Amino acid sequence: MAAVPVQAIATVLKSPPAEALARIRDAVGAKGVIADATEMAPYLVDERHLYQGRAALVVRPASTAEVAAVVAICAETDIAIVPQGGNTGMVGAATPFEHGGEIVLSLGRMNRVRALDPLNRTITVEAGCILANIQKAAEGADCLFPLSLGAEGTCQIGGNLSTNAGGVGVLRYGMTRDLVLGLEVVLPDGRVWDGLRGLRKDNTGYDLKQLFVGAEGTLGIITAAVLKLFARPREVETAFCAVRDPAAAIELLGRAATGSGDNVTAIELIPRICLDLVLHHVPGTADPLAAPHDWYLLVEFSAGDTGGALRGSLERVLTEAMEAGLVRDATIAASAQQRQVLWRLRESIAEAQKLEGGNIKYDVSVPVSRIAEFIAAGTQAARGAVPGVRVLAFGHVGDGNVHFNLSRPEGADAAAFLGRYEAFNRLIHDIVVRYGGSISAEHGIGRVKRGELARYKPPLELELMRALKKTIDPKNIMNPGKVLAP
Ligand code: FAD
Ligand code: MLT
Ligand code: ZN
Repeated sequence: MAAVPVQAIATVLKSPPAEALARIRDAVGAKGVIADATEMAPYLVDERHLYQGRAALVVRPASTAEVAAVVAICAETDIAIVPQGGNTGMVGAATPFEHGGEIVLSLGRMNRVRALDPLNRTITVEAGCILANIQKAAEGADCLFPLSLGAEGTCQIGGNLSTNAGGVGVLRYGMTRDLVLGLEVVLPDGRVWDGLRGLRKDNTGYDLKQLFVGAEGTLGIITAAVLKLFARPREVETAFCAVRDPAAAIELLGRAATGSGDNVTAIELIPRICLDLVLHHVPGTADPLAAPHDWYLLVEFSAGDTGGALRGSLERVLTEAMEAGLVRDATIAASAQQRQVLWRLRESIAEAQKLEGGNIKYDVSVPVSRIAEFIAAGTQAARGAVPGVRVLAFGHVGDGNVHFNLSRPEGADAAAFLGRYEAFNRLIHDIVVRYGGSISAEHGIGRVKRGELARYKPPLELELMRALKKTIDPKNIMNPGKVLAP
């Protein structure tokens, strides 16, 4: 992928003045800055190792007041800021550009749970809280915070909000956008917007918090959030099924929704190639079924106390699906530990594909009813373009999201395969559009897809996005060059 020329970041200085950097150091204290090259290194490369950036400084403020002070200095002196959470994002949005004139602002030290209100069913957290820690805090109050994804041990809620993360619970609980009630945001001029309201009903004009959700750090820095909590399910039933094909998986989804009384929490499609890569790369994993199959579906039902009826519903749905030829074999987890073993197979796919090397990701969505056709058309096109390409079409199909990932043909050169990125973009994204889909279901745009956004987003939508950006961040200091191409 082509790097952005330095001159394209028009409003941003190439080398921030030493005096401004000294003021930033003073604002956050010695603990709040990293300037040593070795210590800075992990903040300068993205999760997929597509980009190697540089930065004038990595700043790690400990409070909203410190974030506000840093942003005010940057606004005054035209220093661009790249907000960073757990740095697990897939589109290069948290990585500074190569010119080195930006600072990285990492939220990791702001990791307090500020409040938990079990009666209001809300938790108020700082942006740097790791997602798994929020889940644990909710559990401690006998509640559920349902956002769940493979990176949950590392990603931070500020990053989840800024990418509007999806994950495995969207079918039942929605995207991150649906889980937030209030936000605290440091605006690009350094002012703090206190929108930390825990209200489920608030029709007082525009829903400002939603502007910052999914903005990938381009409109402001989220410093805290009020999140919704839910009742913790008392019964959870998980099955790993071999299904005939993706069409059978979608038919099973409908049967599962009806048969469980709308208690399906997750439906995850897994082709054999993904399972093979996990078994090969991830220690301690094993095939859960006796014989290999081409396609699998991880199905989870969850509910309050049904007196064990949920298990009966799952068994009934699977038995009938077997009789109809949709399911070929299945295993149901008999304990929480077995459940984790099954989920580990699914959650390790991203890691296994990374370890395999040379991959191109298409995180796309199409209407659920068109998933099977889309996978067939995409697979045929990809194989036509590069014979031997390995298609990993997996993921959260219950909500229409397919991770249509490509791995280089076995033994092929990784760099040469990545050299085909642009050609694959056109091939796959044109098909996505033909099926009425989106070129980014949950990972966002960042740097990887900003050219694609410019190509596929309707001009009026792009115009409105640019107008918003200009109004809220007129000096273009907030993650410039991400989402919207310069
Ligand atoms: P980062 O990567 O640090 O940042 C992401 C973006 O948010 C950047 O634009 C950054 O500038 C901005 N940002 C971060 N913090 C703030 C803040 N406080 N204020 C303003 N902007 C901020 N994603 C999914 O949606 N679903 C999945 O199922 C999923 N599975 C994954 C599995 C694995 C193994 C991995 C490695 C990643 C996965 N992801 C998934 C991608 C990633 O985990 C999510 O995008 C996550 O939400 C990013 O959070 P983060 O804290 O790592 O953010
Ligand atoms: C997942 O759901 O595992 C990730 O979002 C997919 C990916 O890394 O491509
Ligand atoms: Zn995903």
